[in-house]
Amino acid sequence: MLYITNLYKNYGSFQAVSGLTLHIPKGDLFGFVGPNGAGKTTTIRIVCGLLKATAGSIQINGIPASDDYREIKKCIGYVPDFFGVYDNLKVKEYMEFYGSMYGMYTRDIENLSDDLLDLVNLRDKKDVYVDSLSRGMKQRLCVARALLHNPTLLILDEPSSGLDPRARVEMKELLMNLNQMGKTIIISSHILSELSEMCNSIGIMNHGRLITAGRMEDIMMQLGNGNKIHVSVKANMDVAVRTVQEFAGVQIQSVMEHELTIVCNCSDEEISGMIGQMIYNGAVLSGFNREEGNLESLFMQLTGGEENA
Ligand SMILES: Nc1ncnc2c1ncn2[C@@H]1O[C@H](COP(=O)(O)OP(=O)(O)OP(=O)(O)O)[C@@H](O)[C@H]1O
Ligand SMILES: [Mg+2]
Repeated sequence: MLYITNLYKNYGSFQAVSGLTLHIPKGDLFGFVGPNGAGKTTTIRIVCGLLKATAGSIQINGIPASDDYREIKKCIGYVPDFFGVYDNLKVKEYMEFYGSMYGMYTRDIENLSDDLLDLVNLRDKKDVYVDSLSRGMKQRLCVARALLHNPTLLILDEPSSGLDPRARVEMKELLMNLNQMGKTIIISSHILSELSEMCNSIGIMNHGRLITAGRMEDIMMQLGNGNKIHVSVKANMDVAVRTVQEFAGVQIQSVMEHELTIVCNCSDEEISGMIGQMIYNGAVLSGFNREEGNLESLFMQLTGGEENA
């Protein structure tokens, strides 16, 4: 769906993006994270055709950006990090204005606009002035506007910043729904817990470079972040410990009276095999669970504790 290859952006002598290569497959809900100034907005604006790259190439839906950005823009819906000011524009007029910019017919805009305002839960605000909407409502309106031309790729730059917890949950649900409806979504955010709940892939950027990217679970796994397993042992802890020691690549992190904590780089099958072997050898287990990977600690690890947002 989206291929970014060896992308560079210089602002004068400052390099904001340095050799970024990234592929986002169709159907992904991709979380783009990185400390303030990492280069996320710059990358997003280049992908959306709003900023010229210093070097590198971009291809969306098989169309190279160098060919015709107008074609590419038809594939993209963009929700920017900051909104303009809308003097004396009502919600429905705002939708009409953007629809006409996409060359749509007035009747089509009206029909579609009603459906989209329904989708973002703003139908009853049709005749309200945009300026009088709350921040969360403006964000949702912006999503509706970005969907007017039925783009396949939706790119949102910090859509949840400044939203209250309820509005954030609503935004998250909206994006997950849109993803299920087939939209590929890229979302930049500093709210890592939220990203780990909704995204199936992530990319972490720092100082203009991509540090890592891929499926959420693979990245957690690589960093040994999702591999801590707590085994509840009711009796025969010594047997449980000896069994674990027979498995290569498994470390015992702690042994408490009834809990054994191990760290390993194993597949689910290997873990069940090991648990089965403990029981077979005579350890009495009452349960086990794998500790959830934590995007926050991963982020701190990879960006050297530079998170400042
Ligand atoms: N127009 C500009 N002129 C000069 N430098 C710029 C310009 N726009 C951005 N930069 C610099 O480029 C770097 C990357 O900025 P960018 O806005 O892409 O970061 P970001 O990852 O989106 O950060 P944030 O999380 O704060 O939104 C920053 O150091 C910023 O100061
Ligand atoms: Mg930004």
